[in-house]
Amino acid sequence: MTEPFTAVDIIRAKRDGHTLTTDQVAWSIDAYTRGVIAEEQMSALAMAVFFQGMSVRELDDWTSAMVRSGERLDFSRVPRPTVDKHSTGGVGDKITLPLVPIVAACGAAVPQLSGRGLGHTGGTLDKLEAIPGWNARVSNAQMMAMLTDIGGVICAAGEKLAPADRKLYALRDVTATVDSIPLIASSIMSKKIAEGTSALVLDVKTGSGAFMSEPDRALELARTMVSLGVDAGVRTRALVTAMDVPLGCAIGNALEVAESVEVLAGGGPADVVELTLLLARHMLELVGIDTDPAQAISSGAAMDCWRAMIRAQGGDPLAELPKATIVEDIVADSAGVITRCDALMLGRASWRLGAGRHRKEDPVSDSAGIEVFVKPGDDVTTGQVLMRLHTETPGLVAHVREELRSPRVGEPAIVVGPTGSSHNQLPLIIDVVEA
Ligand code: URA
Repeated sequence: MTEPFTAVDIIRAKRDGHTLTTDQVAWSIDAYTRGVIAEEQMSALAMAVFFQGMSVRELDDWTSAMVRSGERLDFSRVPRPTVDKHSTGGVGDKITLPLVPIVAACGAAVPQLSGRGLGHTGGTLDKLEAIPGWNARVSNAQMMAMLTDIGGVICAAGEKLAPADRKLYALRDVTATVDSIPLIASSIMSKKIAEGTSALVLDVKTGSGAFMSEPDRALELARTMVSLGVDAGVRTRALVTAMDVPLGCAIGNALEVAESVEVLAGGGPADVVELTLLLARHMLELVGIDTDPAQAISSGAAMDCWRAMIRAQGGDPLAELPKATIVEDIVADSAGVITRCDALMLGRASWRLGAGRHRKEDPVSDSAGIEVFVKPGDDVTTGQVLMRLHTETPGLVAHVREELRSPRVGEPAIVVGPTGSSHNQLPLIIDVVEA
């Protein structure tokens, strides 16, 4: 086949700040997927995009080309309106777990195609795999059946969904081109558009534990993704929310499942409940369902949906979750008020205890993680338990404890200040972005 362009010309054009044509963009993604553009050439193009950015039209074209690189799911035969949610990821962010059955119990269909965690933020599939028997792989036919009968499915995205993104994301990971707003926005939105949902609510995290630590950049990412969604015909809204402090108390796979089940049972930490219900309200509003999601919890309907979803994928929702063999508390040395509870340090510590992976083929521990019992502004007494470390690996705890309490650089993960000290925790909900 004669190729209409050369990679070198396209890289040069982007490097020099020119806007690529629709045909050039479409060819670049297609040729990369076919292996005609080599990995080193795509690295150079990604770096050129990193520095030069993309126009709105180029980004729409780039995203559409990534969608076209694979299959597009079609849920038009599901007799409920489809709506999904995506979070850019954070520490203790288990919201998808209670959210999907809550929204399903209110009458929508939620096709949640999720991924695994890399680095300090956990992956939804890793969390659910802590449930004995649960299987992330679901065929398209089974997904349709679950959406019709139960209203929700959380499963692994198939290999055929936006394969260009799969390839490009792995490349960006090793070429320092992940944190580019157009590349992140097109990566996330291509998968969500290909997934075929009619509406989408994005939870864009900001703060130390998010990969957009600055609120202004998170807002720009949110606006870019909303615009891509709307241009592709998906009703899209975004919340910008705090990730300077872990969400809830639990960090780690089985610990987060247990906390999610508490929320479905009507309990759970206040911040997890607030964000789950807020996201549920936005999702339901986008598809015109006028039901209070809190009702789905109090009636038990959301818990019924959760159990049906877990059973449909081979899991036992009533089975005991894995527990760590080594559990150790860290207590307050003095009385005072919590002035800092850093999401990034706690996320990294949980990862080191075994909850996360270094490389994508690494296994994760179901039971490892951290329970954090305090938030900024809480008063504490001497000897009060601040956090509980869970691991299966002897010898890790002493090291992780040292890193949390006396890091070589910077402040401890949790700081107890004198009574009356202030703290500068971000508000949980920072902004809402609509088209
Ligand atoms: N998640 C994605 O799917 N893609 C990115 O680029 C970043 C986060």
